[in-house]
Amino acid sequence: MDKILVTGGLGFIGSHTVVELQNEGYEVVIIDDLSNSSEKVLDGITSITGKKPLFEKLDLKDRPKVETFFEKHNDVKGVIHFAASKAVGESVQEPLLYYENNISTLVYILKELKKLPSAAFIFSSSCTVYGQADELPITENAPVKQAESPYGNTKQIGEEIISDTCKVTPSLKAIALRYFNPVGSHESAKIGELPIGVPQNLVPFITQTAIGIREQLSVFGDDYPTPDGTCVRDYIHVVDLAKAHVVALNRLLQNKNKANYETFNLGTGKGSSVLEVVKAFEKVSGEKLNYKIVGRREGDIISAYADTTKANNELGWKTKLTLDDAMRSAWKWEQIVRGNK
Ligand code: WQD
Repeated sequence: MDKILVTGGLGFIGSHTVVELQNEGYEVVIIDDLSNSSEKVLDGITSITGKKPLFEKLDLKDRPKVETFFEKHNDVKGVIHFAASKAVGESVQEPLLYYENNISTLVYILKELKKLPSAAFIFSSSCTVYGQADELPITENAPVKQAESPYGNTKQIGEEIISDTCKVTPSLKAIALRYFNPVGSHESAKIGELPIGVPQNLVPFITQTAIGIREQLSVFGDDYPTPDGTCVRDYIHVVDLAKAHVVALNRLLQNKNKANYETFNLGTGKGSSVLEVVKAFEKVSGEKLNYKIVGRREGDIISAYADTTKANNELGWKTKLTLDDAMRSAWKWEQIVRGNK
């Protein structure tokens, strides 16, 4: 079976995607700089699939090392590119770190792919490119808006770089996958989200509060124009998301793509408010969550959820797992990671 490079393959979404790629029969080689992950994740992947992926610790900003990697692995048929810095708040404080890490590494990889006879490229993008969309649910034709953060801007610029490159590189086919909000963990609880430091995202903060690492969850505002006043998002189970990457890769390798650059929204198509997520967690865990309503968080959009028509029809993919499944698996993972079986 074809060899696939997964950059950032020891990260949250990356590791779940490696599992699904191996389940599909692909040979996987991972590049990760371990800046936001751990080599222990390799054991988790291996214990799920029974196959240990190839792994090279490598900083993709080191262009000569990237060239050497591709000389050694010149039989790579596709790349799924997760490796990037992704903390919205941090990107506001450290824009140059984000532009260097997220943009230069993309350029170096694309330069290597241009040298191959043919290549399939899957880009980890984000619904953040839409900002606060004027119409809901959000389709792929919704206008890309002025980015709200350097992180979001690196996703917009990244998509443009890929699109421009594909226009002049017939041997390169690419798909940008615009994720909504990835949550949950593999049912085995052998891999999951490992936020370093204080979690920025809602679900890891919920599970860390429930297990006692965090004192209390702050709900950032309940005065939004939404049914219960809290922000609405499309929370997609990370395993459904991972499977979508395999479907997108197969589409390119089997030449089923309709253009050599395509974009797809990956979500459930359903919006859930912050308080609905809290209630779903309390229901599946049996834990009463300690939270309080505080002021709004700067930069938050009010509501975002996906129109999944294109992914359903073109990719033949749709989510199967629910918000309850995500909360259940996230809680199981938190308990295992914190040693409370
Ligand atoms: C969700 C909701 C918060 C934490 C970001 C990035 C996006 C993607 C996913 C990388 C919001 C509320 C959160 C908390 C809260 N990241 N919240 N208390 O901001 O929708 O998306 O992460 O690709 O690109 O923008 O996700 O989980 O941070 O917030 O009330 O302690 O939960 O206000 O309404 P977000 P989030």
